[in-house]
Amino acid sequence: MQVALKIWRYDGETGERRLQDYELDAPEWATLLDVLDLIKDQVDGSLAYRKSCRMMICGSCGMRMDGAAVLACKMRMAEVVDAGRVPVISPMGNLPVVKDLVVDMEPFWAKMRAMQPWLRPGYNEADEEREFLVSQEQMNVIHKEALCINCGCCVSECNSMESDPDFLGPAALAKGMRFVGDARDAATVERLEAYNSEHGIWDCTRCYFCQERCPKGVDPRDAIAKLGAESIRHGVDRDMGAKHAKWFVQSAKTTGWLREEELIPKTQGWVSTVKQVQFAMSLMRKGKARPLPIPHVAEGVEEARALYDLVKEQGRDGALGIVQGEHALARIEFTEEGGARRAAPEIEPGVEPPPAEG
Ligand code: SF4
Ligand code: SF4
Ligand code: FES
Repeated sequence: MQVALKIWRYDGETGERRLQDYELDAPEWATLLDVLDLIKDQVDGSLAYRKSCRMMICGSCGMRMDGAAVLACKMRMAEVVDAGRVPVISPMGNLPVVKDLVVDMEPFWAKMRAMQPWLRPGYNEADEEREFLVSQEQMNVIHKEALCINCGCCVSECNSMESDPDFLGPAALAKGMRFVGDARDAATVERLEAYNSEHGIWDCTRCYFCQERCPKGVDPRDAIAKLGAESIRHGVDRDMGAKHAKWFVQSAKTTGWLREEELIPKTQGWVSTVKQVQFAMSLMRKGKARPLPIPHVAEGVEEARALYDLVKEQGRDGALGIVQGEHALARIEFTEEGGARRAAPEIEPGVEPPPAEG
């Protein structure tokens, strides 16, 4: 097949940047990485990019295609050619460019190191007789996070890092959850305290770009949500973000509604509320806020309360609840396949559900 593409070239020494066109013949099975190899071998030996495994394991070949991060060795070019596209290839975002498609990964690794990405079990050596058995249910909590290959594609797309380069970011926080959720780790609260500090979990804007671009299904935004749930469960809730989340739950539990008028005092405190009185008054004048926020209790609020009690009773108010929610959603998708509702099969972790009947 005939492949055409444009590559942003960058000279780290002179700072010169230019968009260069390439066109070449490549086999049908070629990935973006294969095409880059062909260019380097046959057209332009000075092109710089990273690679190693060629099979989506090492995480070296992250780059952008038409502005979205991809692993070059995963990206099949046939579908791009068939669509008549001439893609623009550029280096990953949110990391300093060294040359052409090569970025400096040091800021990425610095945040990874800050996570202390090793097990801290609280002892030096296990007792001889003692064996740690981790249940499948406990493993499910960190199953996705353990798939990370440190490619940086999520970091490249992170909105929050773009405005605050010190934000810990999706990859590091997913790594943090991999250890917070490990049943053998004994440093949970200490870790959560660190991840709740400035530039930590509550600075995520929930844009979900990291989740969309991760080539391994780690779902870093879900990992950050799990860290938030675990923080509140362990009482690490001094941040405004945690207070905000807690108020949502409290409001739904007591009235079945989100009482927005009370969000500011409950999350930012009374001093900040007083400072915003003028703004509140203008909202009232325009009919956008009620003068006397008398809580309205929803019909059937008992259901919301019963749900809250059940979650507490079963200990599903942390990361485990989020994972079980994902499994429940997967089951709904399965039962609604083809537009028809079917009896939901029991899904066991690691076991493929039986094929739908009819
Ligand atoms: S969801 Fe959060 S961590 Fe993920 S890309 Fe958006 S701001 Fe970054
Ligand atoms: S979370 Fe996904 S995108 Fe981010 S570094 Fe890990 S594998 Fe790459
Ligand atoms: S070359 Fe290893 S992930 Fe692409």
